[in-house]
Amino acid sequence: MGGFAQAWSFVHEPALLGVVADSLSVFDPASKPAADIRDMFLLVLAITGGICVVVEGMLIYCIWRFRSKPSDSVEPPQVYGSRPIEVAWTVAPLLIVFVMFLVVVRTAADVRQVPENAATTGLRVTVIGRQWWWEYVYEGYRTERLSFRTANELVVPVDTPVVLDLQSADVIHSFWVPRLAGKTDVIPGRTNRTWFQARHPGSFLGQCAEYCGTQHGNMLLRVEALPADEFERWLANQKQPAREVEAVRAGREAFRSRSCVNCHTIRGVSERGTAGPDLTHLMSRKTIGSGMVFLRPDPRQNKGTLPDGADPLTAWVTDPQKIKPGCLMPAFHLSRSEFEEIVAYFKTLE
Ligand code: CUA
Repeated sequence: MGGFAQAWSFVHEPALLGVVADSLSVFDPASKPAADIRDMFLLVLAITGGICVVVEGMLIYCIWRFRSKPSDSVEPPQVYGSRPIEVAWTVAPLLIVFVMFLVVVRTAADVRQVPENAATTGLRVTVIGRQWWWEYVYEGYRTERLSFRTANELVVPVDTPVVLDLQSADVIHSFWVPRLAGKTDVIPGRTNRTWFQARHPGSFLGQCAEYCGTQHGNMLLRVEALPADEFERWLANQKQPAREVEAVRAGREAFRSRSCVNCHTIRGVSERGTAGPDLTHLMSRKTIGSGMVFLRPDPRQNKGTLPDGADPLTAWVTDPQKIKPGCLMPAFHLSRSEFEEIVAYFKTLE
């Protein structure tokens, strides 16, 4: 996994790149599992850094101290073997490795330890990795059962344990939001579990961390941690079926009668499509295309991914292959007016 910030390279402005790099930093954890991993990393870095300084220091000292041979020198005494020295340089590294082993085992156990109250006070979500986006099935919040789906942006409350069951619909992916938790593989045919608890509100970015095909680098993650009351409002809205706005009826009918419905669900309109993202509350998200395109762009943010001045949603619906080559949504051959109607309809899906 190289060039982590590069995956977000559609952000060309240095100022924004700084913001993105900050929000991906493993050194600035915003959740306990990420803090445990950072602490372990710093401890191992301190131990190995100390060893490096001692070894390199002795090496440099010897090179300097014995840099030339006095002309009248005699051969120094030749010593073969020294039990005390050999015992020392065997036992000391063994102890160091043993200490690091214990720290790793303990951290691994801590990171996996889901808080006991998560089942009654937390948020439970099933994450499904797909080529090349993330689907979230909200299963439950506190004692309430939920059953709606969203895509790409995981919205969570702050100071609340969030338990994620990870599954894959196709190949192996890896779920990684560095400021919240470590990487967890997302493997077909099995369910892996991870969790985090955001300490403060904010957007936490991440990235699929296992090569999964041509658009692996554009399989971005975004976790939005909201204050409790804002999250409750978001949740209440998501539970509703799609809004019905009379003025965009033509777009709704075009969506319903075209092949859009084979892949996409809009609750209350058509619910058989499961291959693509659920669009019921599309406009409540910041991005589409798995973090690739900002729906309401700050013009600096979409640079490089969209033609200048293009409306993001129109550009995506008209030809997703131009923005994300290889993605599983084809370009459809609809009339211009049909595209306009469908996009106008989508924009009402708050
Ligand atoms: Cu999904 Cu890489």
